[in-house]
Amino acid sequence: MAKREPNPYFEVRKSPIQGKGVFAVRRIRKGTRVAEYEGEHISSREAMRRYDDLSMKRHHTFLFDLDGKTCIDGAVGGNDSRFINHSCEPNCEAVQEGRRIFVVALQTIEPDEELTYDYRYVVEGPIDATLRRLYACRCGTPSCRGTIVQPELLATGKEKKKPVDVTVVRNSRAARKDERVGPAEGRDERTRRRTGSSARA
Ligand SMILES: C[S@@+](CC[C@H](N)C(=O)[O-])C[C@H]1O[C@@H](n2cnc3c(N)ncnc32)[C@H](O)[C@@H]1O
Ligand SMILES: [Zn+2]
Repeated sequence: MAKREPNPYFEVRKSPIQGKGVFAVRRIRKGTRVAEYEGEHISSREAMRRYDDLSMKRHHTFLFDLDGKTCIDGAVGGNDSRFINHSCEPNCEAVQEGRRIFVVALQTIEPDEELTYDYRYVVEGPIDATLRRLYACRCGTPSCRGTIVQPELLATGKEKKKPVDVTVVRNSRAARKDERVGPAEGRDERTRRRTGSSARA
């Protein structure tokens, strides 16, 4: 297989947030499309088979949900964008264009800054203390909401209810190009999502 060209905007390094992260190697202007989230397109069922969140000690996947039925698994055929961590105050957003996800700078990013986006992870079912721990956020920003789970799901108060069956969805949602939203906003629809967060572009 041909060797991939290094991404011109970032490199992978150890991150203070978690594990590896992605850091700017040059100034990145607002609106720059820094990478495509590549990987194998698989069904949600296959994603569940590959990654069973609830059996993990610490949640860790490279899945990005496209439409509730299909995910991109960045661990298979993916590029370095799979190492972009979540932040509650992100400097990038994930934007969906058709069946593709692009990471786009929300603001000017200086060299050595870590690139992040809001995963807006979707989980169906009550967000109890166990799930809060499983999906804990360590972004360290002043407005950290404490979890990578989509904020709208936390506002329901469901987490106070007795745990019932929980269906895990995955990483994030992207904003479509025609309805781009800020990373903390977005539609209130609750669908089963796999990874990361994006605005459908
Ligand atoms: C797509 S990977 C990102 C790269 C990851 N840091 C690594 O080294 O493989 C997503 C995983 O990184 C971790 N992660 C990303 N952002 C995080 C955050 N803000 N707080 C805690 N863990 C985070 C979680 O384990 C998540 O499942
Ligand atoms: Zn946070």
